[in-house]
Amino acid sequence: MIIAVDGTAASGKGTLAKALAAELGLAHLDTGALYRACGLTLMLEGADPSSVDEHAAEIAAKNLDFSLTKDARIRTAEAGEMASVVAAMPEVRAALLEGQRRFAYSVTPELKDGLRKGLRGAILDGRDIGTVVLPDADYKFFVDADVDIRAHRRWKELINHGSEAMLPAIMEDLVKRDERDRSRQHAPLKPADNAILVDTTEKSVEEMVRFALKAIGRQPLPGKS
Ligand code: DC
Repeated sequence: MIIAVDGTAASGKGTLAKALAAELGLAHLDTGALYRACGLTLMLEGADPSSVDEHAAEIAAKNLDFSLTKDARIRTAEAGEMASVVAAMPEVRAALLEGQRRFAYSVTPELKDGLRKGLRGAILDGRDIGTVVLPDADYKFFVDADVDIRAHRRWKELINHGSEAMLPAIMEDLVKRDERDRSRQHAPLKPADNAILVDTTEKSVEEMVRFALKAIGRQPLPGKS
């Protein structure tokens, strides 16, 4: 089973993907972490988001140090901004595309040498998973919520990570980032034609997971969501 989860920034798509992975026995890849790791690499090289060199970004993506996807610094607002900037560059997207597809298909049972035996497939979350990375996914979700709710959630997340954060600045950053992600020429943020829309504005995590499971004809595991 292959599932694509796309959506706006801080909409809950990552939380949904993680929960569905646990419920359904799927490997999970947060593809935003790849773009953030690429952005962080450039930040560490001293790059400025307003003038990122495309060639340097392409090299960073091609030689990505995957350990950076686990680095707490990718979760800062600056790395998020940088990620969105490099994500608009076609060379960067091309460099990261194959790895995402390999992740999805190397864990399915059809490939007996699958890296992670026992898993029943994969779930990837991002912006273009249902439209570009995995257009043949069995199920596609598109997650969104009102911007003030998303800003509040992101603010709480940053505070919990020990960062200083101001709500109005976060709101402005989300609006700017979504606009850049939506309006870019290559693989823009948009729902796939056959995506199931999930509005998380008034849904708790449990409600969101139940809704998604129901939409694909599954029940939550007993004692879980
Ligand atoms: O999901 P996130 O906030 O961690 O993503 C960071 C940025 O990476 C986001 O602004 C757009 C980009 N991104 C993308 O263009 N395509 C993806 N599949 C995932 C993320």
